[in-house]
Amino acid sequence: MAKAKKSIFFCQNCGHEESKWLGQCPVCKEWNTFAEEKAASVKQGAAKAVREAELVSLSCVSTDEDERIRTGIEELDRVLGGGIVRGSLVLVGGDPGIGKSTLLLQVCQRLADLDKKILYISGEESLRQIKLRANRMGDFKDTLSLLCETNLDIIRGVIKQYKPEMAVIDSIQTMYSEEVGSAPGSVSQVRESTNILLQLAKGLDISIFIVGHVTKEGMVAGPRVLEHMVDTVLYFEGDRHASYRLLRGVKNRFGSTNEIGVFEMQKSGLAEVENPSEFMLSGKPEHASGSVVACAMEGTRPMLMEIQALVCRSNFGMPRRTAAGLDYNRVNLLMAVLEKRLGLPLSNYDAYVNIAGGIRLSEPAADLGIVMAIVSSYKNRPVSDDMIVFGEVGLSGEIRAVTMPEQRVAEAKKLGFRTCIIPEVSCKAVGEISGMEVIGVKSVNQAIHFLIS
Ligand SMILES: Nc1ncnc2c1ncn2[C@@H]1O[C@H](COP(=O)(O)OP(=O)(O)OP(=O)(O)O)[C@@H](O)[C@H]1O
Ligand SMILES: [Mg+2]
Repeated sequence: MAKAKKSIFFCQNCGHEESKWLGQCPVCKEWNTFAEEKAASVKQGAAKAVREAELVSLSCVSTDEDERIRTGIEELDRVLGGGIVRGSLVLVGGDPGIGKSTLLLQVCQRLADLDKKILYISGEESLRQIKLRANRMGDFKDTLSLLCETNLDIIRGVIKQYKPEMAVIDSIQTMYSEEVGSAPGSVSQVRESTNILLQLAKGLDISIFIVGHVTKEGMVAGPRVLEHMVDTVLYFEGDRHASYRLLRGVKNRFGSTNEIGVFEMQKSGLAEVENPSEFMLSGKPEHASGSVVACAMEGTRPMLMEIQALVCRSNFGMPRRTAAGLDYNRVNLLMAVLEKRLGLPLSNYDAYVNIAGGIRLSEPAADLGIVMAIVSSYKNRPVSDDMIVFGEVGLSGEIRAVTMPEQRVAEAKKLGFRTCIIPEVSCKAVGEISGMEVIGVKSVNQAIHFLIS
């Protein structure tokens, strides 16, 4: 009697595999994420195909000079570590509609201009839709070819025959291989599809960009499963309502993951933002209370941003607190420090703290900025417009050192700020800077004294 094909259960959130259905995933602790998929069958005679492995010593491996292809989009090249590495597999993840397809089509445009053979494979959009997007971006050379296909076995054939220098797969969740029985987007399908692409990239020395969707609902396998398999993982993020977008490297086998790229979504596609600080501070109100400029590091790049706070008397016993772009608990903690160390009766006040421009910030160096904004709003006294602050605030109200103070002060100087309030321990590293008054502070109390003009 023929045996029924075995089933495996996959957590659609993290890709964990079990032989039976479970209500809660033991790894990621999500509920109701298990889905049944057919076990991939091992091909008959697969063992015969095994060839003998060849050993190579490291010194015999040659690396070409032009190993990296520079796209000319500086913000992207920096995040990739200096250009696209030949034969690498890059995953670009991001929320729906953030601009993943736009970015990759722009990369294709730039590389096609350099007379490289490029293949753009879309499983989501028709040729007409791609053309509509391309019309926004200007002219394309004929070295860019398009293909609308979701069957990876066909795509594999096309890539092997056409041998492009770079290929884009938009998106991995729409691709399927006939060898796997489950539906496109399921964990085993996504895993197998990526495996096929990995072999193509390494075998033929083609750089392949994969688009991956991130959804909160468990049904579509998130790109987390893929992150281990690919060489580079980039996340495209940003506030849907703001026009700028951040491209962040989460994993990079060929470069630092500290870098970010800043783009702005415009009518003609994504434009690079060369000076993000200026961009973030545009529209800052003058002489307004509760508005403070702080400096945070995004990787190795300092970025000035405006922290805003609004503190007003609460009408109920439970004061309301909101934090947009900041960690809510951190804001509560800093308010408790202010209450205890400065004696401000903040438990009777509502507080709304916000980072202008919709950016998210998790660096402790912003603490002093948050504290200053809250005190400035509470006392209704504006902070001097040519001043920036940074420093971590400890529970006893002390100001602690932060990383790279020199770069932060240099960035402030570049943008015309005259005064910097920084942790006293960092003063030595910064040294004397002409045209800039650097004030070191030890405690929140001392900082408040300097700040409120
Ligand atoms: N004419 C236009 N002017 C300005 N921005 C536009 C214009 N047309 C589209 N956009 C922007 O481009 C975004 C869509 O970009 P794109 O299709 O590249 O996103 P995506 O990340 O690939 O989305 P999906 O996940 O649906 O594939 C829209 O959300 C919108 O912000
Ligand atoms: Mg898209």
